[in-house]
This record gives sequence, structure tokens and C-alpha cells, in this order.
Amino acid sequence: MLPNPREPRDFPLGKRNLYLGGGGAEVPGYLNLDLFLLPGVQVVANAEQLPFPDDLFARVECDAVLEHVRDPEAVMREIRRVLAPGGYAHLVAPFCHPFHAYPRDYRRFTLDGLRLLAGDLEEVAAGWRSGPAATLAVFLLEFVKLWLPSRLWRAAVHGVLGWALFPLRYLDLALLRSPEAGRLGNHAYLWLRKAPS
Ligand SMILES: C[S@@+](CC[C@H](N)C(=O)[O-])C[C@H]1O[C@@H](n2cnc3c(N)ncnc32)[C@H](O)[C@@H]1O
Repeated sequence: MLPNPREPRDFPLGKRNLYLGGGGAEVPGYLNLDLFLLPGVQVVANAEQLPFPDDLFARVECDAVLEHVRDPEAVMREIRRVLAPGGYAHLVAPFCHPFHAYPRDYRRFTLDGLRLLAGDLEEVAAGWRSGPAATLAVFLLEFVKLWLPSRLWRAAVHGVLGWALFPLRYLDLALLRSPEAGRLGNHAYLWLRKAPS
């Protein structure tokens, strides 16, 4: 992943911050919640029913999770509920991206689709995390893998071809300047803020 350098990232972390779906990774500064007890996970729960009181977290991170949940509107209701007044939520979701089940893969999002989910949270920034060049690279890679006979071959080619195709993604640095880039956007992002009380 070559993230869009124009995506703002300097929103403040607070005393308590929640990372949804961070299984398999360490996420310093956040409480890491996932559906499964994977490495790095501190709370096992469904993001559709968060086991926390209202107004608790200064930041909620939801990166590449909404496509995997049964009810994304329930997840958004929960994010809104547990965010502290004045707190920030960060949503990232795929638009043009291959199927990937964690443990299921139900849908894709346009930027407008994410905005619809955001409801009454204030939008503070929006755009594409990764653009048309990332889309081309991931689809090319998955297309080649379709021809391979075994999981071992697919893993090997994923490593080698993924590395060889990586420079293609630098084209996104130019393409993401265009408002047309979203026609083939790879992952969209939204930064949202809950109104201060
Ligand atoms: C594609 S991974 C995203 C990982 C990480 N956020 C990243 O960007 O690399 C999706 C994660 O969401 C978790 N997940 C899926 N459904 C969930 C749910 N209903 N509640 C909480 N976590 C869920 C999966 O177990 C998986 O770890």
C-alpha cells in the first residue's frame, strides 16, 4: 500500500482510542478490538455491538472492516455512540478491490456511500487512500493468480509479482490530483467528527 500523502493524519489521539478489526497487528495507542482472538487483539467482540459505554473514545479507527460486517449501519451507530463529543472517527473502505474474506466479504463502497453511512457526524476530510494505479496493480495480480494451480504458487507469485508491480502505484501520486481518480479508486477514506457537547 502506498497511501495518498495528501490524506490528513494529524487528528489528535486521546486518552482512550479504539481500533476496530486490527487482528494480527499491534496498534500502539489504541484498544484493539476484533471478532477473533488474533495476535494484537485486546477485546474480542462484534463491532456491531461494542461492549463499551457511550462517549468513551477520542478516536475510532475503522480501516478495511465495513466490507466484512453484516450490518455496516449498526457499526456506524456504535461508532457514533462510543465516540466522545469532539472525537474523531476514521473510515477507510474499498471500492475497486478484489474479493477478500475476513471472514466474509459482503460489499464495496463509493465515497458517497461512506458519506451516507456517516449520517450526522461532521465530515472533516474525504478522499482516496489509494487510487487507479493501486486498482490496476491489485487486479493484475489477482488475475495472474487465477491461473495458478495451488495455494503455494499463489503465495509465491503474490510476493514476487506484488513486489514487481509496486512501482506502478507511484502513478497514483499524479492520478490522485484529479477529481476523476475516484472512478477507479481503490480505497476511500473519510475523517468524521462528533459535535462537541
Ligand atoms: C481486512 S482486515 C483489516 C485489518 C486492518 N484494519 C488493516 O487495515 O490492515 C478486517 C478485520 O476485521 C475483522 N472483522 C470482521 N468482521 C468484524 C466484526 N463484525 N467485528 C469486529 N471485527 C471484524 C476481521 O477479523 C479482520 O481482522
